[in-house]
Amino acid sequence: SVEEMENRVREIKEKFGERLFLPCHHYQKDEVVQFADATGDSLRLAQLAAKNDKAEYIVFCGVHFMAETADMLTRGDQMVILPDMRAGCSMADMADMEQTERAWKVLQETFGDTVLPVTYINSTAAIKAFCGRNGGATVTSSNAKKMIEWALSQKERLLFLPDQHLGRNTCVDLGIPLEQMAVWDPIHDKFEYDGDLENVKVILWKGHCSVHESFTVENVEEIRRTKPDMNILVHPECSHEVVKESDYNGSTSYIIETIKKAPAGSKWAIGTEMNLVKRIIAEHPDKEIMSLNPNMCPCMTMNRIDLPHLLWALETIEQKEQFNQITVDQEIAKDALLALDKMLKIV
Ligand code: 13P
Ligand code: SF4
Repeated sequence: SVEEMENRVREIKEKFGERLFLPCHHYQKDEVVQFADATGDSLRLAQLAAKNDKAEYIVFCGVHFMAETADMLTRGDQMVILPDMRAGCSMADMADMEQTERAWKVLQETFGDTVLPVTYINSTAAIKAFCGRNGGATVTSSNAKKMIEWALSQKERLLFLPDQHLGRNTCVDLGIPLEQMAVWDPIHDKFEYDGDLENVKVILWKGHCSVHESFTVENVEEIRRTKPDMNILVHPECSHEVVKESDYNGSTSYIIETIKKAPAGSKWAIGTEMNLVKRIIAEHPDKEIMSLNPNMCPCMTMNRIDLPHLLWALETIEQKEQFNQITVDQEIAKDALLALDKMLKIV
């Protein structure tokens, strides 16, 4: 039963104490989050991994790229375990190394040595390593502005992988005109750009998050029409059209903090993953809160981590067998850490 599983999770956690650390991303289900030693957005989860040197086992409740990041940042012999290996991120999978090398070759031919590659943390360790090797860095949704500003102080141009929306939204925020942004289509190996490439400052990789792409301008217009006093708050993985029409945008932690600070009685439509929106609704009965798209789906891969998988992962630690361990290849980790450390130093 659920109760038995919950008791077992508690029992194993108690038994291991500080030797076991259980970080959770905000998109995890309540049945998992209730056992979190810490919750956070991608930046905080990375920072926590970087400073944790006590835990022998880190049971990472989030998706694969986050567990890879934790493995690299813990550096020593701490073991990072992902309760379900199928918990990937479809956006991170939209940039692979072969595509990136083909793109890089064209970018070098077109722009010479004027491009700095920067990757959203939602990417594979190999892509982070590619950025690290070429002088670039990682960014998260909560520091993208600062990091892109830094990138453009280093080189004339920026290649932003793999989320075109976070890249576009942040660059618009920084005052870069849309006309100076080209899209690189990695499936067809070509630019999507009408003008003269000479004028391009930012090359956006054509990747996206399907969860956040499901919020549309029609959703925003519907709220504006039916509930004009509602504030619209979205994640910057939403399309630029949606972000432009909303009132506020930011990382999952920013979304949580914004609602916490909002006055009682205020009204909010939130455009981000459903597990988080549901939790925010439950925690703020004094505010009127809804999803920006009532028909949206949860992030299916985040949802793969559930109570049975969490318990299973903890039992493998207890029995010292068949761990779902995430280990990044040493060579890749060395270069990826150049990119991660650059970010952690700047923010
Ligand atoms: P943040 O929690 O860093 O805002 O990221 C959201 C996300 O989609 C993680 O996959
Ligand atoms: Fe990836 Fe989108 Fe899920 Fe975040 S919400 S883990 S970006 S698929």
